[in-house]
Amino acid sequence: MSDFKARTIYQIYPKSFHDSNGDGIGDLKGITEKLDYLQSLGIEYLWITPFFTSPQKDNGYDVADYRNIDTLFGTMKDFEELVEEAKLRGIGIMLDMVFNHTSTEHEWFQKALAGDQYYKDFYIFKDGKPGTPPTNWVSKFGGSAWEYVSAFNQYYLHLFDKTQADLNWENKNVRKELVNVLKFWMDKGVKGFRFDVVNLISKPEKYADDHEGDGRRFYTDGPKVHDYLKELCHESGLNDDGMVTVGEMSSTTIDNCIRYSNPKEKELSMCFNFHHLKVDYKDQQKWILRNCDFMALKKLLNDWQLGLQEGNGWNALFWCNHDQPRIVSRFGDDKQYHKESAKMLASMIHFLRGTPYIYQGEEIGMTNAYFEHIEQYRDVESINYFKILKKEGKKEEDIYRILQERSRDNSRTPMQWDDSPYAGFSENEPWIEVTGNYKEINVKNSAVEPDSILDYYKKLVRLRKEYKVISDGSYIPILLDHESVFSYKRTYDSQTLIVINNFYGTETEVELEGNMEGYQCILSNYESRDPINRLILKPYESLTFLKNE
Ligand code: NOJ
Repeated sequence: MSDFKARTIYQIYPKSFHDSNGDGIGDLKGITEKLDYLQSLGIEYLWITPFFTSPQKDNGYDVADYRNIDTLFGTMKDFEELVEEAKLRGIGIMLDMVFNHTSTEHEWFQKALAGDQYYKDFYIFKDGKPGTPPTNWVSKFGGSAWEYVSAFNQYYLHLFDKTQADLNWENKNVRKELVNVLKFWMDKGVKGFRFDVVNLISKPEKYADDHEGDGRRFYTDGPKVHDYLKELCHESGLNDDGMVTVGEMSSTTIDNCIRYSNPKEKELSMCFNFHHLKVDYKDQQKWILRNCDFMALKKLLNDWQLGLQEGNGWNALFWCNHDQPRIVSRFGDDKQYHKESAKMLASMIHFLRGTPYIYQGEEIGMTNAYFEHIEQYRDVESINYFKILKKEGKKEEDIYRILQERSRDNSRTPMQWDDSPYAGFSENEPWIEVTGNYKEINVKNSAVEPDSILDYYKKLVRLRKEYKVISDGSYIPILLDHESVFSYKRTYDSQTLIVINNFYGTETEVELEGNMEGYQCILSNYESRDPINRLILKPYESLTFLKNE
């Protein structure tokens, strides 16, 4: 288990990472070409989002063949080379398994549509008349979660886009197929898996209207989800092989995450939860803007740290991924305090109990895209919501403001490698525009800049390997009532760590309790400081003190 406690995982969205063949789309060879860079960061696992055969309606989260590589991204040989080359650099590859649904172009769904009952049972078909779906559940991408098939006078369930049909996990044959998919990739030498929205796989026995919400309470952490995960991991030998596994857990609870990740349960290594990334949603709604509720954020981080610690669960620590806006634009200040706030936000989570994830470009402080026209957007969810919000009567300028803050495309713009045209991502026009600030914010500049954000991330990765207190220590909250500082202690044997983060761009004062003798400042985003009890923190200042006796 300790294998992944001291390690940091790097996430790659292949379409936007590096294009090796000049078609404007990132590919597997492109990742291989950048392995030395990734090794220099010190990371030991790469989670790569789906590159399997897919019509790309949801950028690969609509898989049409789990065992093949989409020609957009390369060939199986390219993949095998990537695994090999990564291994030489001490990096394990983690694949992204989308097992809640398949693309409607998957052979199974096509056979189902052709009337083959064996494959119809792979999906969730329910009776219903045109215009009256079986339930009022809402798809996560907007609109009804049911699509009508006139040939059967039935609907099929899709919790996401209508081209992503939900699999019927009740069917043992489905579960067997998925175990075999895992075995196939384990034989190719992959070292772990991320499971997409995996806490949605178990649907309720009865399908009924939700009069309180959009239906999610019926299938989130559903009735048999723990049994299914135990079976999946056991049958594929995932646990015996010491693989790293992480489940993406939509709207989950602390108690369920303890069960998902407590080693005794033999389910997963750790969980992603998203509650801390909804503190700027109004009434849990992504498409209504609101400022970050810092006290709510503190409470959530703290509750999850303490809750999982108590139940011996394990958390994935993250701010960014391919579905979230860039954190420096979201909770930091990507203009006046770009460097300071990016570093503070990094410290805030990297020293917590759990395994940290870095999303491509986060380590150089990449910002939101600030696109101004709908034609610049590519994401199915953003485009759907543009239409929905327009229909609701919202003004276009307001919709653009929302998209500029909330669209998933904010994190999907090409990785900024240098200041050449297309940011060194590709030699030709990329599938999605490069963010306008690439001439200043890029890897090439970061590599020579003193005190760069990149350098800071390297230190964070290194410190986690160096000190047991970071990888294995207990978490103790401090300054819980402070209205602008997130601070905590970690303890392990004779080591104690104190982490102090000013979340805002204004000075603030903190008073630390206890004797500060013996502490030294091991990381700071301004100059180093003496460990004293009373400190006036600068805007976005982050300080980490260590006592190592
Ligand atoms: C979560 C993935 O992260 C997201 O990108 C995708 O659209 C949905 N799951 C559906 O697979």
